[in-house]
Amino acid sequence: MIERPIHLDLAHRIEFTRDLFSSENSVLADVIAKSDNGSCHRVIAFVDGGVVGGNQNLLRDISSWFSARDGELELVESPIVLPGGEPCKNDWSLVPEIWRDINQNSIDRHSFVMAVGGGAFLDLVGFAASTAHRGVRMIRIPTTSLSQGDGGVGVKNGVNFFGKKNWVGTFAVPYAVINDFSFLQTLDERSRRAGIIEAIKVAMIRSRDFYEKIEQCSSRLKGLDDDVLEMVIKRSAEEHVDHIATSGDPYELGSARPLDYGHWVAHKLEQISAFRIGHGEAVAIGMAVDLIYSKRIGLMSAEDCERALSLIESVGFSIYDSELHRTESGRSIILRGLEEFREHLGGQLTITLVPEIGRKVELNEMDEEEILASIDELKVRVGAAVS
Ligand SMILES: NC(=O)c1ccc[n+]([C@@H]2O[C@H](COP(=O)([O-])OP(=O)(O)OC[C@H]3O[C@@H](n4cnc5c(N)ncnc54)[C@H](O)[C@@H]3O)[C@@H](O)[C@H]2O)c1
Ligand SMILES: [Zn+2]
Repeated sequence: MIERPIHLDLAHRIEFTRDLFSSENSVLADVIAKSDNGSCHRVIAFVDGGVVGGNQNLLRDISSWFSARDGELELVESPIVLPGGEPCKNDWSLVPEIWRDINQNSIDRHSFVMAVGGGAFLDLVGFAASTAHRGVRMIRIPTTSLSQGDGGVGVKNGVNFFGKKNWVGTFAVPYAVINDFSFLQTLDERSRRAGIIEAIKVAMIRSRDFYEKIEQCSSRLKGLDDDVLEMVIKRSAEEHVDHIATSGDPYELGSARPLDYGHWVAHKLEQISAFRIGHGEAVAIGMAVDLIYSKRIGLMSAEDCERALSLIESVGFSIYDSELHRTESGRSIILRGLEEFREHLGGQLTITLVPEIGRKVELNEMDEEEILASIDELKVRVGAAVS
């Protein structure tokens, strides 16, 4: 038997900037200059159609930015615009389309794929880039509050398959992530708010200090004030990256998924509502179910549970949706989310819950009756009588 440890020394870089493609901004050029080969660097750019809609000059700005660095950086063709949002993860034909663009432009493992878009778009392009040539260098430029503070700064890519979220995907550390806060300006209110819930999530599992900062600025956050929103996104990104870099399990080889706190319900809610409920909204409800559950089983104090539910509501999220009570053949559909989570983890269920704000525990079982009772309790709390 021959056995050798393999250590990969990878850096996970997150830059923060504004107006990335304005002529004087050198963040992208500096990031690319860190790579090993000194010749002119080739870049192919994919842009989320939703971002282009709100930023009429974006494509022109990207092209001009590269033209001004001719000889140092080469944009192999005009930025390629593809649809974004969850539908792009449901459309498999986009994957070979991106592969074709990568192939036709002779993008190799020393070139760069740059993706500008929301979390769904980054998941799609990241998946295609990480499988082309067994992985080409990827620069992610997240454009939503959620992707800047959470999904876009992670190391996972994936698209939906068999009607299941992220069923096909890869783990690949991007070459760099560049968070440009100016993209947040063109988001609608829902998408601006979505990132706040992932910040609360990561604070709940790892930092009471961050949680209290969010509490202190909750009314400004509710109003989506630029300064506090950017502060919260930046700290959220930092907490996510710290977790990935220091937890000892960046590629999720074990069963614990602490960053998926509240997500077993959320993924199912998104799916059964046909994505009417957005990811952030679903996570708010998912966390609320897990909070009430934790209180009911005696894991969390009633005070902490109430404090967290109040914060979620105070920054503008609903904590209940009638989809939670949907049944099929008399059986709760939401409970299937637990089964799917177990299946995804390879048979052993590991659920992250929070015994007190800022600390997490892993549980291997959840009591289905208590989950259903928690959902009933939530419904009562939001003022509707249980039918
Ligand atoms: N890979 C991971 O680790 C990870 C983690 C968390 C979430 N995710 C995934 O991220 C996705 C959700 O991402 P999201 O919340 O960023 O939303 P999204 O990508 O679904 O985008 C929402 C909408 O906003 C548009 N848009 C994006 N940026 C815009 C901008 N600046 N101005 C105007 N419109 C813009 C998009 O075109 C889309 O229509 C889900 O698919 C989720 O599964 C992935
Ligand atoms: Zn999430």
